[in-house]
Amino acid sequence: YKKNPIFPARFMWGASSAAWQVEGAVNEDGRTPAIIDLNSKTKTGYADNSIASDHYHHYKEDVELMKKAGFTSYRFSISWSRIYPDDSGVPNQLGIDFYNNLIDELVKNGIEPIVTLYHYDMPVWVDKKYNGWYGRGIIAAFDQYVRTCFKEFGDRVKYWLSINEQNMQICYGKWLGVCKNDETWFEDQWKVNNIMNVCHAKAVIACHELVEGGKIGPVPGYVPIYPETCNPKDQIAAQNAEELTEKVWNDFYAHQKYNGFIKSYWRENNIDPDIRPEDLEDFSQAKIDFFGVNCYRSNTAKYAAPDAEPKDYILNKSGEKGNLQFPVVPGVYALTNNPFVKTTDWDWEIDPVAMRYSLRYIWDHYQLPMVITENGYGAHEEVAEDGKVHDPQRIQFLREQIYQVGRAIQDGCEVIGYNPWSFTDLLSTGNGMSKRYGLVFINTTDSDVRDLRRIPKDSYYWYSNLIKSNGQDW
Ligand code: BG6
Repeated sequence: YKKNPIFPARFMWGASSAAWQVEGAVNEDGRTPAIIDLNSKTKTGYADNSIASDHYHHYKEDVELMKKAGFTSYRFSISWSRIYPDDSGVPNQLGIDFYNNLIDELVKNGIEPIVTLYHYDMPVWVDKKYNGWYGRGIIAAFDQYVRTCFKEFGDRVKYWLSINEQNMQICYGKWLGVCKNDETWFEDQWKVNNIMNVCHAKAVIACHELVEGGKIGPVPGYVPIYPETCNPKDQIAAQNAEELTEKVWNDFYAHQKYNGFIKSYWRENNIDPDIRPEDLEDFSQAKIDFFGVNCYRSNTAKYAAPDAEPKDYILNKSGEKGNLQFPVVPGVYALTNNPFVKTTDWDWEIDPVAMRYSLRYIWDHYQLPMVITENGYGAHEEVAEDGKVHDPQRIQFLREQIYQVGRAIQDGCEVIGYNPWSFTDLLSTGNGMSKRYGLVFINTTDSDVRDLRRIPKDSYYWYSNLIKSNGQDW
């Protein structure tokens, strides 16, 4: 690249994290378990989240490193069970204090907090009492929780995100712990999704009511789907896949109602998503202000004949089951490999153009500002003999992705920030500390906690220069 495109003034350059993946301190200051605490080790075989990156005890040091890098934003999530550890209806002051301290530290250092309300960590008490996302009782509990967040933190936090990757939680529900019954998930997923939509709507409504100048948006996991060939059947298959993994959600968020495709899909498959009149009332009031965009990769789809064998997983490079739920949906689509892009060790397509494509797609369809809330490169990494962490592949990945963000801005898209995954190393959803994403290394492994020292990687210094020149020095 000769020159990076120009980025707008006051662009939010930062990075991202999520509570259960960085905080640790799971039993401290009144926090009670979240479902993810129980699943994170037993399901994956990697380190659990009881210590994670120990951000709970290192937050000042972490913010100091953000400041030194020149961050102007930081995206993190709030742990629901720190704020409401039980069903007493009384918030936990010590949990509130932790986030107050973190937010104060960020604001003091000129870093805009971007806060996710829900990132996969449902309190166990909520799960038990309401049957997780299956029971409508969760709606009032969620509403109470988000209202408390807005009242406590809304004086300083102006950018809010509702539910992280709701589309992925449904599409990969069996893997992300949302699904409670594999047999009935085909229909259940749409009831669960409707309840999540009501919770999303409640958050949007409450934010606008309680946070002066507050803005709120959803955070879809956006994976553009390319057709395998120019065969019209592949094109429709790609559109089908796009609908069933992303567009149904994005249309809903932007237009505040279900689109024609999904209503017809429900009719054809005899699915009753249990949408109630009061839900429609909430949806009609839930006008979002922007889109959070999590974008890592692309996917490719091809025609699947009606009599094709259904498959709900694919094999990864090592021959293990991957985590895709619907790789072959007979008569609808089949996901397939893309020979034009390389992949990471975890089979994720390395496709910077997908970033430009995604931003243009969302902008063209919805005309709403976008902030990139996740994008990043997961890799095995270790401290080198010189005591540093050299991650040239991450620098290359970020450079190409940021270039494409700039191209999308040149194309006319309104992009207000870039917050890659992740600031420090943290627990990957499926691979613990073995799959590292951070700009800052955390000296810990899945089997040895070590000293949890923070070591900025080469990519940290590279990104810092880029930020300080507003995208020009790379
Ligand atoms: C996103 C999630 O889907 O992808 C993060 O919001 C997650 O929580 C990230 O960590 C990367 O995925 P993984 O499975 O490599 O950790």
